[in-house]
Amino acid sequence: MDHNDPLYRPPAPLPTTPVKALLRGMFRSDRDMISLMPQSAYRTMVAEVGWTRRKIILVNDPEIVQLMMTAEVAAYPKSDLMADALAPLVRDGVFVSNGESWERQRRMIAPAFSHMRLANAFTSMVQSVDQYQGIFDKRADNNEEFSLEEAMSSLTADVVCRTIFSRTLGAGPAQRVYNAFAEFQDSVANVRVFRLWLGKAFAKVHQPEPVSRSSAEIRDQIGVMLDERIADSRPELSDIAGDIIKARDPFDGSQFSREELIDQIGVFFLAGHETTAGALAWALYILAHQKDAVRRIREEVENVSDGKELDTEIVKKLEFTKNVFRETLRLYPPLGFIPRVAQRAGQFGSVKFPRGALMLVSPWLMHRHEALWPNPDRFDPDRFSVAREKDIPSGAYIPFGQGPRICIGAAFALMEATLILARIVSRYDIEIVRPNDVYPAARLTTRTANGITARFTKRD
Ligand code: HEM
Repeated sequence: MDHNDPLYRPPAPLPTTPVKALLRGMFRSDRDMISLMPQSAYRTMVAEVGWTRRKIILVNDPEIVQLMMTAEVAAYPKSDLMADALAPLVRDGVFVSNGESWERQRRMIAPAFSHMRLANAFTSMVQSVDQYQGIFDKRADNNEEFSLEEAMSSLTADVVCRTIFSRTLGAGPAQRVYNAFAEFQDSVANVRVFRLWLGKAFAKVHQPEPVSRSSAEIRDQIGVMLDERIADSRPELSDIAGDIIKARDPFDGSQFSREELIDQIGVFFLAGHETTAGALAWALYILAHQKDAVRRIREEVENVSDGKELDTEIVKKLEFTKNVFRETLRLYPPLGFIPRVAQRAGQFGSVKFPRGALMLVSPWLMHRHEALWPNPDRFDPDRFSVAREKDIPSGAYIPFGQGPRICIGAAFALMEATLILARIVSRYDIEIVRPNDVYPAARLTTRTANGITARFTKRD
């Protein structure tokens, strides 16, 4: 393979015809929404996904998506299907709640994610990367193959643990949360796609038993860590748990109850580690095929850091490295589908929909839409350069959502990912074992269907 091939296209499923998509969904009960998308879904702006009992409307038009997610956010709340699936784990936590309940939670957690607090989080991120570098060094010394997705999951889970609780993933409750999350993700994604075809609007979807079992385990273990954190009064501790334990609603002075704190921390674990991990694994996979981008990251890190340890100021200046990650988020948005529900009947263009219709906003489709991006399937990090960024149509790039429900951890994730990419790429050459076996599948987040096996070699 030519590693500098400008025509390089990272793996994507071959879009299929609508009929094949229907058959695939019904008979293979595929868990993967991406491979069900027909070619036309990458061209249309608004369309009804045919043959379903509950109306499903695909909305790719950036202006309409913007309207739904900003000005008319109350008319298109979070979907009941997603809220039901996540309820055993996070109850009515900030990710799934709507209206006043969401407003109160969002204003109480926001200070913990402010730019000022990110500097504390950065220190913890560096400690995680230092620790994992030890593990990667050993693997490199032994020429060992390993699962890139698992390695990135464990690293980002450690970052989340350190930034929330000032503790490592290690053994004990944090490791038990991590293990139970793996079970949760496997089983919650197991909702068969054909339920979407057959289910009525607002019908309760029965979740398999492992979902309640793993959710209970996660909540119990987060409770253990929370109680230990509350009992630990060392003044030098500065972390997200500390911030939200103390948080008071500026409107009525109320604090979070213990159960509400567990809801929030459950959301941070859920939303904050698999998302970043998946995108990092994809970024490293792509970089293993893009020697020129690797060279540019190494040069940028050398020039900007001038041999110093990476700190927040240096990481902010790693423009190209960050653009590699942003382009990866375009090609493999961790949340490929962001469902909403129409609270009332309506019409977009010629497409009419009733109350209860599932309105499917899809970063996966919008980011690869033929009318919104030149050469949408190509990896081209310079799309995000200062000179070219203005060519991106407004609202066409939404890996973190938009409007009031935009990801609260976006700045956190960008800083974390830029640091991790800079450190890994500067230190190792990356080789993918069996690269042709790698292709994407949408589970709870956008992952690979069969994993990515990698080998790192230390640079001279
Ligand atoms: C690359 C990494 C990440 C991606 C792509 C991502 C993506 C998203 C998206 C698309 C949403 C909006 C969902 C919707 O509108 O339905 C969201 C919300 C959220 N994310 Fe992230 N996220 C990432 C990392 C993080 C991190 C690191 C944290 C926290 C530690 C986090 C916490 C949250 C929370 C709490 C919400 C709910 C916000 C609200 O509804 O008010 N995310 N994320």
